[in-house]
Amino acid sequence: MLRNLGLLVVFLSVLANWCLAVEDKDQLIKDYEKYTKQSLLWGPYRPGNYLGIRPRIPHSLMAGLFWFNADNIENIHNIRHVCDQGQDFNGFGWSQYDPRIGGKQIFHDNELKLDLTTDFIKNKEGSWAIKVKGVPRPGYEKNANSIVFYAGLEGEGMLTSAVGAPSDGFKRGDPIKLIGQSDEFQGFEIDINDGPNTNQHKFLNKKQIADPDLNPSRTHYVSMRAPNDNVWKAKDIFNVLISESVNEIIARNPDTKNIPHPSSLLTLRNLNGFEGNLHFIQKTFVGAFEFDITFNLEESSNKIEAEDLDLLINQTLTKFDAKFNKVLDLQPPFNNAEYKKFSEEFISNLMGGIGYFHGDHLVDRETEFNEEKYEPIQLEGKPEGPFELFSSVPSRTFFPRGFYWDEGFQLIPILEYDTDLVLEILKSWFNLIDDDGWIAREQILGPEARSRVPSEFQVQNPNIANPPTLMLLFTDLLKKAKETQDSKDFSFGDIDEPERVDKYGDIDFTDITDAHLRYPELLINYAENIYPKLQSHYEWFKRTQKGELEEFEREPFSPNEAYRWKGRTFTHNLASGLDDYPRALPPDIAELNVDLISWVGTMTRSMKQIAELLGKTEDAAKYSKIEYDIQRNIEDLHWSKKDKTYCDVSVDQTDRDVFYCAKGYISLFPFTLKLIEPGSEHIRDIIELIADPEELWSQYGIRSLSKSNEFYRTHEQYWRGPVWININYLVLDSLLHYGTGENGAKLDPETWDLANKTYTELRRNVVENVYKQWKSTGFAYEQYDDQNGKPRGAKHFLGWTGLVTVMMKMPESLK
Ligand SMILES: *[C@@H]1O[C@H](CO)[C@@H](O)[C@H](O)[C@H]1NC(C)=O
Ligand SMILES: *[C@@H]1O[C@H](CO)[C@@H](O)[C@H](O)[C@H]1NC(C)=O
Repeated sequence: MLRNLGLLVVFLSVLANWCLAVEDKDQLIKDYEKYTKQSLLWGPYRPGNYLGIRPRIPHSLMAGLFWFNADNIENIHNIRHVCDQGQDFNGFGWSQYDPRIGGKQIFHDNELKLDLTTDFIKNKEGSWAIKVKGVPRPGYEKNANSIVFYAGLEGEGMLTSAVGAPSDGFKRGDPIKLIGQSDEFQGFEIDINDGPNTNQHKFLNKKQIADPDLNPSRTHYVSMRAPNDNVWKAKDIFNVLISESVNEIIARNPDTKNIPHPSSLLTLRNLNGFEGNLHFIQKTFVGAFEFDITFNLEESSNKIEAEDLDLLINQTLTKFDAKFNKVLDLQPPFNNAEYKKFSEEFISNLMGGIGYFHGDHLVDRETEFNEEKYEPIQLEGKPEGPFELFSSVPSRTFFPRGFYWDEGFQLIPILEYDTDLVLEILKSWFNLIDDDGWIAREQILGPEARSRVPSEFQVQNPNIANPPTLMLLFTDLLKKAKETQDSKDFSFGDIDEPERVDKYGDIDFTDITDAHLRYPELLINYAENIYPKLQSHYEWFKRTQKGELEEFEREPFSPNEAYRWKGRTFTHNLASGLDDYPRALPPDIAELNVDLISWVGTMTRSMKQIAELLGKTEDAAKYSKIEYDIQRNIEDLHWSKKDKTYCDVSVDQTDRDVFYCAKGYISLFPFTLKLIEPGSEHIRDIIELIADPEELWSQYGIRSLSKSNEFYRTHEQYWRGPVWININYLVLDSLLHYGTGENGAKLDPETWDLANKTYTELRRNVVENVYKQWKSTGFAYEQYDDQNGKPRGAKHFLGWTGLVTVMMKMPESLK
């Protein structure tokens, strides 16, 4: 396969040069970029909120929704706005979602006894709309549910109400219109209707109403001024407005015996009729309800009208479904309706977690790590930036921001669905590589993102690396490019008669999400742009994470390739991503980490492939040599004959090398990152380790640390036993790699049988358990218990747990 990829990239670059005159190529790139910008402009790009809409533009329009039960004044403290682990949902999120056109989100709110749906759709003209629908659970039809929509404009421009707001609220049926204009949007309007006649607003008698202006059967509107970087706090601002209103009522009627109904007290009051840049619209319903919000550009010739919404939503969902069937085709035993719903929801939630982040972050460039004591250090950050990032997130409730190590895994399923989107996200990440080649492993950009991180974890340090998973994507990407070119009937390697495209000027990119695979010019142009940054990142990685060879008289095949994660402590190696996984004790600068050298091998291979794609033969040869050196050094330095596995290395008190073999995920990296020579005897040992129930095999997936290890299930039990889906995916993918085709033929029959059995059962075990836990709780989780399969850690963890969608697409067994 890898050799084929080499050929392929040469082929692609020749093809690209041959096909197009320069101006055509420029036109192609321009058209593509225009389409990308437009189709990805708006989205639920504030994934840390239940529904937060914004464009991929800093300081622009931000909109959102929050809701609460208005029958109890205390519920002011229990508003649904920021995705919160503690709020009691039987699952929430996108059941169907396509980042280019929209989809459906459902909230099964157990505590409020309400099932809320928010459909979000957008069109080619830059318009979008939301349909909000609520259905109380049986027996709770009398509950008062209050829904607040807000929109705020930051930066230049204005946003204002188009109709005078009556202080006692808008009557039944009255629509509300906001109009605005900003740097990017010449003129736009936001319409909020009152929904169908079946809606019932909360009706109170006179005595229950605190003030004529606080009648919850009306729609209430308030506007105020919020400075830049504050619109995201809309819920907190709402809380302040309500508290002020309540205090004022108490001050006015200190002795009243009439306690007004909470739904009146919890109604927004238009105290001063002021017009600012932040606008709230509040509706309080009893029973089932629905209403619509539409955003249209004034100049648009194809505005979204509320009455067309049902049809447009139907079209959006139908389109999603058709695409899903095409790209994530389920293989046995998962090819049935139940698993389809599961897979659709997982991929949708993963893509619905894509966000746009903007702002500064905190960096400590001064503190050096103490490599004597290895104690945790409190970093002192200074702001740098502002930067922007377009990225998916590991968990909307717990980790609503970009994580370097998670992102590569998260993009693997998305790559199946929308290749161009993945490239857009990768580009955004690579733009963050600084002059030194460093990129912060956690991206906490701006105050909204920062508000979700305890202060001791906010500061990033430029000596700290993290597994370069983003580089994994390139091999997958080039494999896909080959499949696409093959399916176009290009006879591989024969460039005499490819399907000639004379003019690209007329391409309509609508519905094309693999343009980089169809038009090699785009892929090559992309690679050219990112290559310098990647080189500098690669050099930074190798330079800063280097391990010692000479000083400890180690003489492996290559004197250059040995690595050690910087910044570990006695108990943790956060940089490695496997925080509490057991490592050699005491920590020592002599340590060499087998997972790290494997990651550097993956990076090197990707660099080689990109260099080949760009026709940079010298670079490609250089990377190829390093890749080979790394493969050799993994065997020379890290293979322990006695333990029959790959191990970390450290030294004893006399400075002599000793293996540190904590069997588990770390032992597998040369295998999972495909750095073992196909046919090597070590493959069998590794598969035996994986398949042994006394070591790594559990009924729910491969456990992170062997049952036989003294630290198994001790302390935090984070990477010391539980099953993690990302590594299980890598194991499956490697079993496919080593067990099929030419590589498979190199295995002896017994090893092959074991590989096939392990693959088939592992795939089934992992998917079935994640499915089962989702069925019973409504959520995906960060990890699963290796003894009973039960969920552990953060919930709504659609990050790499979303890889089950790709597992279901994998073949049922090896062939
Ligand atoms: C769209 O509408 C058609 C016709 O009413 C219906 O059969 C279909 O189920 C709808 N599709 C979706 C995804 O709602
Ligand atoms: C692969 O393993 C599965 C599960 O054990 C088995 O059903 C299948 O027959 C095996 N395939 C071959 C070709 O042996």
